[in-house]
Amino acid sequence: MEIHAYEKLWLALALVLIVGFIGTITYGAAGAGIDMIDDKGGTVDPATLDQHPKFGDPGIERNGENSYDVYVVARQFVFEPGTTEPLRVPAGSTVTFHVTAADVIHGFEVVGTNANTMAIPGQVAEFTVEFGEPGEYGMLCNEYCGSGHHVMEGKIVVMEQEAFDSWYEQQQAQGEAEN
Ligand code: CUA
Repeated sequence: MEIHAYEKLWLALALVLIVGFIGTITYGAAGAGIDMIDDKGGTVDPATLDQHPKFGDPGIERNGENSYDVYVVARQFVFEPGTTEPLRVPAGSTVTFHVTAADVIHGFEVVGTNANTMAIPGQVAEFTVEFGEPGEYGMLCNEYCGSGHHVMEGKIVVMEQEAFDSWYEQQQAQGEAEN
């Protein structure tokens, strides 16, 4: 059987295309820096979030040398922390986020990074981000959550370690005074 030269070329190109598609899917699923959110964060009762040991007073908590946990509650139409007050993290740190929602499904996206998850009532999304240089990032809700969805946003401030430390100490002292 004779195959026309153009047809051979077309077959070869189609094959390249298929291999390319499979390649991009494989890269997207397993490639550098891309990690899917799973259910390892566990569950919480959204009705009693206010009494939760972490989500009752969400924020940042040191858990080791240069390593932090951050608890974020999304609710119509704010991030706590993030909206009223920025979420502060030190430069060069590793931060594990724990994100949940108090009312309806929200999104939690750190603009300009690949940190992006759904915030679902009852479910905790857990993921780890490394922050480099000092700077600011926007935080936004990318799931339609009601009439204020388009204004639901916040800010992450990556601070110099020293400035962060003194802010953090002050926060801790305030927390102890309140309890
Ligand atoms: Cu919260 Cu959209």
